[in-house]
Amino acid sequence: MPRLRLPSLIDVHVHLREPGGEHKEDFESGTRAALAGGITALLAMPNTQPPLIDSASLALAERAAALRACCDYGIYLGACAENIAFAADLAPRTCGLKCYLNDTFGTLRIDADDLHTVREHFERFPKDRPIVCHAEGQMVASAILCAHLANRSVHIAHVSRADEIALIRAAKERGIAVTCEVCPQHLFLSLADAPRLGKGRSEVRPRLATPADQAALWANMAYIDCIATDHAPHLLSEKDSATPPPGFPGVETSFALMLTAVHDGRLTLDDVLARMAYNPRRLFGIRDPEQTWIEVDTDALWQPRGAHMHSRAAWTPFEGWTLRGRVESVTLRGVTVYEGGRFRVQAGFGRNLAPIHQT
Ligand code: NCD
Ligand code: ZN
Repeated sequence: MPRLRLPSLIDVHVHLREPGGEHKEDFESGTRAALAGGITALLAMPNTQPPLIDSASLALAERAAALRACCDYGIYLGACAENIAFAADLAPRTCGLKCYLNDTFGTLRIDADDLHTVREHFERFPKDRPIVCHAEGQMVASAILCAHLANRSVHIAHVSRADEIALIRAAKERGIAVTCEVCPQHLFLSLADAPRLGKGRSEVRPRLATPADQAALWANMAYIDCIATDHAPHLLSEKDSATPPPGFPGVETSFALMLTAVHDGRLTLDDVLARMAYNPRRLFGIRDPEQTWIEVDTDALWQPRGAHMHSRAAWTPFEGWTLRGRVESVTLRGVTVYEGGRFRVQAGFGRNLAPIHQT
């Protein structure tokens, strides 16, 4: 059986629900799920309850993570009209600034008309620290122009549509500093899968797009910097309710989906490692930890099952798919923290990757 030692993965877009949504996920359950997927570092999103928008709320997530995280992590600060004056001061405690320019789960949001807030944040946040935008459709153009005028780069989260990747490609070809990520759900699922998944279980932001959008993402892989999951855990009882929250869990299936695509000849293993290990570390300024790697059986066939997931969400939109390639073990800073489906890691082993915590 071909067992490869590979660099460990980093996922720049993960929702861990602490504080305020621990019944869906917490730093322990989410980081264990990440390890099982070969991810040794993740960047946690700020649309929690309360949202992470100031020092006190950021401290809630920092404390929870310090106690419970099993893999390394960074924490995003959320941008809003109220924190223009002090967001930059908090930058050293964060992995970057997240701007929500479209509606999604939670209340954290910059109003669609509030161009002033976007421009102020882009001017003030340190130029060498990432700004990540949830920007769909025309908001992609808005984010790219505001960043360009502020003489800084911007990272567009979860690009899902042909027109969006075409715009990002055009900007890149003109030398504009923009990077982007695409999620497995938009590479492997489309609106054609929605009836099979059902109403609540196909709800995700950005929405599943058309098969033509899906094909455009694959065709423009050269312009996609990162594959990130947007791991957005919600319980099945919530997904199957009358008001399903949007979001899919993803950290336990992302690498296997990409390895399956490698096996199918859609891209190379190097293409995948560039987008799941090297580029994200470089773009987010995160050092490669020493003595850290994963071992992968690239031939192993397995079927994701919600019941076997380590995420508290306990479901997957890829239920029963046959995937080729499985993470067999994960070694983080010299410790084999995951092997053969078992964890050998204490809650709190994970380290904060923010510059203020790096020595
Ligand atoms: C995310 C969540 O549940 O927090 N949901 C989603 O559908 N992706 C929020 C987000 O990333 O937009
Ligand atoms: Zn998200």
